[in-house]
Amino acid sequence: MNTGLLHLHNLLRWVILITLIWSIAKLLTKQDALKTSKILLISAHTTLVLGLYQYFFGPVGYQLVSQAPGGMKEVMKDAAGRFWAMEHISSMIIAIILITIGHIKYKKGGKPGTTTVLYLIALLLILSAIPWPFRAGIGRPWFPGL
Ligand code: HEM
Repeated sequence: MNTGLLHLHNLLRWVILITLIWSIAKLLTKQDALKTSKILLISAHTTLVLGLYQYFFGPVGYQLVSQAPGGMKEVMKDAAGRFWAMEHISSMIIAIILITIGHIKYKKGGKPGTTTVLYLIALLLILSAIPWPFRAGIGRPWFPGL
């Protein structure tokens, strides 16, 4: 089950990236972005739940920290440990919070410009915290199982 959930977490990254870029494009061209933004919100929240599950029950989150003799301090000394125990989850959680605020503001009729800025920051955070296959030591597949 764990592998299946990780595959889903991997795959949803593409749904998030596509709907995020699509929503930004619609907002910039003054089109109605509510539908794409809603798909973005749902996929981001699903990915968050799956990510939390991976963090607490997978090998590179809580387990890594609790099993290291020196705890968090020791994990932080290693680039891969730091990425999984801190960078990935903190950047992604901040990005998902920005997406949530951006969506709610837009839905309530707020300025599309505010949502655009929040979505652009979220996009940068997500792009920087994805374990892309070319990233040494932390790279993961482009698609589940590949
Ligand atoms: C926009 C949100 C996110 C994206 C795009 C994303 C993307 C990814 C990708 C592509 C992987 C590699 C999957 C694979 O090996 O096939 C991954 C792994 C992982 N993610 Fe995320 N993630 C997000 C949010 C989160 C959050 C919020 C958490 C934790 C609270 C999290 C925790 C993890 C963990 C622990 C792994 C490694 C699991 C393992 O190898 O056992 N992710 N993530």
